[in-house]
Amino acid sequence: MRESLIRFLVCPACSQDLTISDASIIGNEIKEGNLQCRGCGQVYPITNYIPRFVPKPHYHLFRETWRNFGFSWRRFARIYTDPRDFLDWIKPVTPDFFKGKTVVDAGCGTGMHACFAAEFGATDVVAFDLSSSVEVARENTAHLPQVHVIQADIYHLPLKADFDYVYTIGVLQHLPDPALGFFNLVRLLRKGGCLSIWVYGFEGTGFVRYVVDPIRRLTSKMPLPLVYMMSFAPTAVIFLLTRIMRSVRNRLARRGQAELLRRIPLGEYLAYMSQFNFHYLHNSIFDQLIAPITKYFHRQEVENWFRHAGLKNVEISSRNQISWRGFGQRVEV
Ligand SMILES: C[S@@+](CC[C@H](N)C(=O)[O-])C[C@H]1O[C@@H](n2cnc3c(N)ncnc32)[C@H](O)[C@@H]1O
Repeated sequence: MRESLIRFLVCPACSQDLTISDASIIGNEIKEGNLQCRGCGQVYPITNYIPRFVPKPHYHLFRETWRNFGFSWRRFARIYTDPRDFLDWIKPVTPDFFKGKTVVDAGCGTGMHACFAAEFGATDVVAFDLSSSVEVARENTAHLPQVHVIQADIYHLPLKADFDYVYTIGVLQHLPDPALGFFNLVRLLRKGGCLSIWVYGFEGTGFVRYVVDPIRRLTSKMPLPLVYMMSFAPTAVIFLLTRIMRSVRNRLARRGQAELLRRIPLGEYLAYMSQFNFHYLHNSIFDQLIAPITKYFHRQEVENWFRHAGLKNVEISSRNQISWRGFGQRVEV
């Protein structure tokens, strides 16, 4: 942890400031130490450079999320090496938007998106995740002094309402109470701050909900190395389908009938995914199979979150006809 992170932190229990103690410093970072609350006195350890805000007795509450996403991100630690998908998830936000901003990556997984945010010019990026993926995120971001990785739960955030931009990609759908997670992220925004979310859609995902989801309920409880091996077979089939759909899309485009792709179930999604390699697709399929909780949202539901949070300049858009991006800005304090 870099000392500069302290200005963003508060005690998740009582929202008072924290002080650093017992720090063992390597280079210009705190490798081990404690963060103590000036109000209630609660102590949060810093281990392996990462401040830990999830109390050990709480681990069992999220056992499967912890185990499954931790495993997944260790397997796919360097999955995002170019920012195409990141920028597609957070549209209409563009790289210029990040310049000079303080940013939160909520549910950061491998931390690779936080790298992009820093490279685009963010001054500070606080990347948090519940699972042991924070170890991977720390490794992937250690070379970027602007990125701070912390282990925290979206329901007990140790962060001040001091951020220009918060984004969360593919996280809310895996929470027991997605709306509460959403409102907790809105609270991190300073006046004028913006929020981007990406969630699975209910619309357009009938096949996934009726066929893949019942399988997920089983596979998310199975030994993960076994699911990992099993997931090569569906990945190979879908990989082939993405290539077929790419050629269908190109043919339709040549005939001036590009819009017909929308009539093919999962057509846009498969054609979009054809730009990525097998390993990337494997991660996406494996993720589907191991998530302990997965929810799908109607557009109206997503719109309601933004409206009830009082966000303005809201833009909800469909992504590949199977998911929703949402963007909004906090104009009131
Ligand atoms: C599908 S992954 C997405 C990761 C990353 N945003 C990405 O796009 O690669 C969902 C992430 O949400 C995290 N997560 C789940 N529940 C959480 C919670 N209560 N608080 C913080 N993170 C959580 C998981 O550990 C996992 O890394």
